Formats: sequence, structure tokens, C-alpha cells
Amino acid sequence: MTASNIILVGFMGTGKSTVGKKLAEHLGWSFQDSDVALEEAHQTSISDLFRLHGESYFRALESKALEHILARKGQVVATGGGAVLAECNRACMLENGFVVALKASPEIIIQRVSSDTSRPLLQGNLDERVHLLLEQRKSAYDFAHSVIDTTQLTTDQITALIIQRAEI
Ligand code: S3P
Repeated sequence: MTASNIILVGFMGTGKSTVGKKLAEHLGWSFQDSDVALEEAHQTSISDLFRLHGESYFRALESKALEHILARKGQVVATGGGAVLAECNRACMLENGFVVALKASPEIIIQRVSSDTSRPLLQGNLDERVHLLLEQRKSAYDFAHSVIDTTQLTTDQITALIIQRAEI
């Protein structure tokens, strides 16, 4: 399969943006982050959207942002960690690119997300929130064409593995 887009899915803190930027640079493709696209289009932050309008409003905007991005080709796309929860988003991703799920151990995730305290779904006890959401989403990322456990890998190793698996 030669991919038209490479789409990265995975829980918060699994390295979608870091890997995505590196991969895009390596391939000479553009890099898109669905959260950033949504924030730019609506001139607001994800945390304000959650705070002022709630999660379902955010999810509806997230689906539109994703659909808009995936109408184009030749991009590496990092998606928000919950974008996989909607069936329509999963179908749109599978139709429009090679979908790679990044996984990491809870310890690595907690270590990575603790430097950014703005994530609305991780407010309160970080350790408890991460474990609860990981449990709720345990199979949510398994629809991807390919799954990579990044726990022991460097960004360069993950990038190389994705290129190999996407057959680019
Ligand atoms: C979310 C993940 C976040 C962002 C929002 C909700 C989630 O993106 O879309 O806070 O539901 O997992 P990152 O995975 O880039 O942190």
C-alpha cells in the first residue's frame, strides 16, 4: 500500500506530534495537527472550547477539522487522542491514509503529559485520570492499519518503522 496521507492516532503523550513533525520533514510532506487546525480555525484554545461548550461540542468541531484536513493528500496528520472515539472519524481516516497507532506505557505517558497541564481531560489527579482513560480506551486505537509500541523506541526509530510499514 502506498499511502496518500499518514495519520497518527494514539493516547495523549504517545508522541504523535513529535513523530509526525519528524516524519513529515523526512518525507518532504506537510505536517498537520488536528488540534492546532481546530484552534486556528476557531481562534480559541481546546481548553476554552471544553470549558465554555463541553466535550461533545469539541468532538463535533474535531470531526469537521479532521474531514477538512483529510480532503488533502501528501500530509502527515497528528490527531487528538480522542479523535478515534467517533466511528465516522475512524472511517474517514481509514479511507484517506495509512493509519498508525502509537502506544506507550502509562508511566511514559504520565511523564510526558505532566509538563503540559492544559489538557482538559487530565485535570485533577493525573495518575488516576490517565489510568482511567487508558482503561476506557483500551481497544480504541486497534482499528489502525499498524500499531507501534513506542515505549523503548527513539523518534528516529519510530519514523523509520512507519516508513517501512507504509511502504513509502
Ligand atoms: C484529547 C486529546 C488532546 C485534545 C483534547 C482531547 C483526548 O489531544 O484533542 O484535549 O480526548 O484524548 P492530544 O492527544 O494531542 O493531547
